[in-house]
Amino acid sequence: MDLKPIEELRARFGEKLAELDTTNLQAVADFRTRFLGKKGEIVALLKQMGSLLPEERPQFGQRVNDLKSMAEAAIEAALAKARETRMNRELEAGWIDVTEPGRAVRAGSLHPLNETREQVIDFFRGLGFEVAGGREIETDWYNFEALNIPPDHPARDMQDTFYVADGVVLRTQTSGVQIHVMENQKPPIRMIAPGHVYRCDADATHAPMFQQVEGLVVDEGISFADLKGILFLWARELFGEGTRIRFRPSFFPFTEPSAEMDVSCFDCGGKGCRTCKGTGWIEIGGCGSVDPAVFERVGVDPERYTGFAFGFGIDRIAMVKRKISEIGLLTANDNRFARQF
Ligand code: DAH
Repeated sequence: MDLKPIEELRARFGEKLAELDTTNLQAVADFRTRFLGKKGEIVALLKQMGSLLPEERPQFGQRVNDLKSMAEAAIEAALAKARETRMNRELEAGWIDVTEPGRAVRAGSLHPLNETREQVIDFFRGLGFEVAGGREIETDWYNFEALNIPPDHPARDMQDTFYVADGVVLRTQTSGVQIHVMENQKPPIRMIAPGHVYRCDADATHAPMFQQVEGLVVDEGISFADLKGILFLWARELFGEGTRIRFRPSFFPFTEPSAEMDVSCFDCGGKGCRTCKGTGWIEIGGCGSVDPAVFERVGVDPERYTGFAFGFGIDRIAMVKRKISEIGLLTANDNRFARQF
């Protein structure tokens, strides 16, 4: 009986196993197919048994089976090694150093304009005021005429207007919202209307787009004293406990009497400093008792109802509070500026 093919195969197996890249799972799998597969070299040997004498078969079979067991064990070991190598590679690739310090996430903060607008809204909401919307593209009627500013009235010169079309403007003031609200709602009315307004104007403290907040209260028996009381509370809320207010006579076509309201400088307490340009006072905006002519235009009975209104610049308030010297910075969208707040 010729046992040489078995020994040759054993030797070849040993040689190839020594050459095998045991870190390569595919190579090990191919290797197993080559020797142990259904068409592999070891099975081929077993098939030769048919040509042997019956008494030779057990010994031959025994030898081939020994070879097969040895090969199985060796390949199993190689596979285990390849799997381990692959796992280690994967672990290495996904390696995370849990001791490394984290990257700080920059938390955002409110933009000074939004901060001021939110403070104003919070305060007046707390007093039961409704927040009204409005439209930025407005007709001449709502922006001017209904507010008692007829065509060619000199008051129009106070506000350089962007005309969109004949009789249609970018609103120059939020005061027109007063008209919309009174058209749609019967007194008592308590509303504020924050929003953007537009004027053809540009220097360090004037921008073509800025924000105002309008206020309107209409009911029986409302007087200028109510206006003073509420705006005094508001000034203290916004600028601090010790804040004083003063009213200077002024003119607006839609209020009579009209006033400009100033608050004592929160920086120097009224002595005079850079923030208040040495005057001790900071100008906040206009206000007054609603002119009966406006009530007549919207069908509110001026014999029965009185009211007050005010209009303040949100940008202006944000600028004095945050000591911002150029209005353009508020809308320049520059992170170096915005991050400071
Ligand atoms: N609309 C005025 C302006 O933009 C400000 C203003 C003054 C509003 C008096 C008012 C008011 O409601 O009563 O200059």
